[in-house]
Amino acid sequence: MRADPLRYLSDELDSLKAQGLYRRLRILDGEQKAHTSFDHRSVVNLSSNNYLGLTTHPKLREAALEATRTRGVGSGSVRTIAGTMDIHMQLERRLAEFKHTEATVVFQSGFAANAGTVSSVLGKDDFIISDELNHASIIDGARLSRATIKVFPHRDAKAARAIVEELPRDRRRLIITDGVFSMDGDLGALPELCDVADEFGCIMMVDDAHASGVFGSNGRGTIDHFGLHGRVDIQVGTLSKAVGVLGGYVAGSRAMIEFLYHRARPFLFSTSHPPAVAAACLAAIDVLESEPQLIERLWENTRFFKSGLQALGFNTGVSDSPITPVIVGEAALAMKLSDALFQEGVFAQGIGFPTVARDRARVRTIVTSTHTRDELQFALDSFAKVGRSLGVI
Ligand SMILES: Cc1ncc(COP(=O)(O)O)c(C=O)c1O
Repeated sequence: MRADPLRYLSDELDSLKAQGLYRRLRILDGEQKAHTSFDHRSVVNLSSNNYLGLTTHPKLREAALEATRTRGVGSGSVRTIAGTMDIHMQLERRLAEFKHTEATVVFQSGFAANAGTVSSVLGKDDFIISDELNHASIIDGARLSRATIKVFPHRDAKAARAIVEELPRDRRRLIITDGVFSMDGDLGALPELCDVADEFGCIMMVDDAHASGVFGSNGRGTIDHFGLHGRVDIQVGTLSKAVGVLGGYVAGSRAMIEFLYHRARPFLFSTSHPPAVAAACLAAIDVLESEPQLIERLWENTRFFKSGLQALGFNTGVSDSPITPVIVGEAALAMKLSDALFQEGVFAQGIGFPTVARDRARVRTIVTSTHTRDELQFALDSFAKVGRSLGVI
């Protein structure tokens, strides 16, 4: 019999199990909503990125259905061959207006937008100055670019400046940060990093995945929130989280976008979105502009839930956003807390190494604008009960 050459993968999984890091996928039985059913259990859902409840918004649903009726289910090609539909162009124009930039390009995901952009804009003679907690898609893009990667301590713009100061001025240097960090919910040091970029003539890039639809006027993101229009050369946003659908986009100058049309590999070598996705994203921008109360409600819920967790004595870290971690230390304890909450009827995912540092394992919570006060109070009561029984508080 042939020996299994992939045996080491099972060994690796065994080791994850031994460390309490093995993850079983929770299966969503119904729709992605604030109160829904996973694994056939009815739960208050604190694990999605569906900040504004748009995954099931009637206007998005209808737009997707109508686009499917009139344009079919697939685009049938990559953008650069036969897969650019009029609706893809409409979405890019609409996003550019929304973001107040010359142009945008839409990618299949936020991951593809980051990885495809960083890897094509820079080359092996260049430098990337990156926050240590930047998203995996930035790290992968940076590696693919073959540029030299210089990592600065989290949010430490002084350290970033010290790095940049030492770099040759005749090389391209890109400073990059997340707008909102997905595991801690804190904001990148945007204003200070923009100052460094201005002083030294660096390219400035921000990944606003968790800020899109959440920060800034009508959810325009952290560049708008901090008043940095015109100072960030490359803005990445996602259509997969608060926007409720799927995709990522890059916003900036017309020349930069045209360059990405020619060089970004996910744009060139991977099929474009189905028309339903583009149509639903267009409807989502309408909703962001016409229903600002959704964002207001998101922030009310955020304040209520975050202060509730803090009053109970949980360590919620340094979050400034609707992402509130409950930091417990060991991964095994985080998974236990998550499992016990699930038994109570609350889904808050446990997260451990390598997604976060080994001693910073946590249960991550994200509220949405569609959670009711009763649902959030129920979740707080469950956290109190389970947190006490496990000795977390
Ligand atoms: C900071 C950050 N950037 C980018 C992404 C990728 O976005 P998408 O889910 O649209 O691929 C994520 C998603 O997890 C994220 O948290």
